[in-house]
Amino acid sequence: MNTLFNIKNKVIILTGGYGVLGSNIAKYFVNSNAKVVILGRDGEKAETFANSISTTKAKGFKADVLDRENLITVKEKILSTWGRIDVLINAAGGNMPGATISPHDSLFDMSIPDFQKVTDLNLMGTVVPSLVFGEHMSIQGNGSIINVSSMAVPQVITRVVGYSASKAAMENFTKWMAVDMALKFGDKIRVNAIAPGFFIADQNRKLLTNEDGSLTERGNTILQNTPMKRFGNAEELNGAVHLLASDAGKFITGTVISIDGGFSAFSGV
Ligand SMILES: NC(=O)c1ccc[n+]([C@@H]2O[C@H](COP(=O)([O-])OP(=O)(O)OC[C@H]3O[C@@H](n4cnc5c(N)ncnc54)[C@H](O)[C@@H]3O)[C@@H](O)[C@H]2O)c1
Repeated sequence: MNTLFNIKNKVIILTGGYGVLGSNIAKYFVNSNAKVVILGRDGEKAETFANSISTTKAKGFKADVLDRENLITVKEKILSTWGRIDVLINAAGGNMPGATISPHDSLFDMSIPDFQKVTDLNLMGTVVPSLVFGEHMSIQGNGSIINVSSMAVPQVITRVVGYSASKAAMENFTKWMAVDMALKFGDKIRVNAIAPGFFIADQNRKLLTNEDGSLTERGNTILQNTPMKRFGNAEELNGAVHLLASDAGKFITGTVISIDGGFSAFSGV
């Protein structure tokens, strides 16, 4: 039997696990017979969501991605429940109004504290869980970390300055950690990222759609620059994430896979 894509019984941790993209990935993996750990700042929400997708194959815990002690406690709970950690998906991330420049403002109107908060979330919010759970992968001798980047990295996307800068730093960390893991712990620990194009979610809904559901000017511009002429559906991330989580991706490390309907390939003309 072909076992290349087998992920049965793999223990998969998702930060931002009840968010729009994270929750879809969680459902997909539970349906593929993996064991899924949902982490979120609201413990009750994480547990309720986990139970709603499976009472046996999913668990939910309160975890703030910026709180190392909290993550260490959760790591111990996961290990005492399931004994191993195979995959970490760092899906917690997002934006903040003050780190976004409105069309009438310039960069000089940006809130520096909000820029810092967005940087903490998107950069440190990936670094801290990667170190906490990645350390166990180094002891175990295998594992795969999958970070969530953005189209705001390879080229400038207006308005979202804090988000862009912090995701760019996070991509660099992805490559850095991939190299360090392979050099020091061998070829069985991999670190990669996916870069989704545009998927409607809480963090970008107001930028892309109006109250009545119609597209904003920005939403329209994005579709004009997406050769496939539509936003992504959350389930369209699952194939790439599955590849990176399974042995099918065992020689892939330090890379970023775009899932964007052609956005990053297109010049617009
Ligand atoms: N939706 C898109 O089009 C898109 C495109 C590219 C990248 N992304 C990235 O995908 C990831 C998932 O985003 P989404 O679209 O599902 O948004 P979302 O807002 O639905 O999910 C993000 C989750 O992160 C959680 N979170 C925020 N701060 C946290 C903290 N300190 N500790 C723990 N959890 C925290 C939020 O509560 C939320 O559940 C993010 O990193 C986002 O930047 C999204």
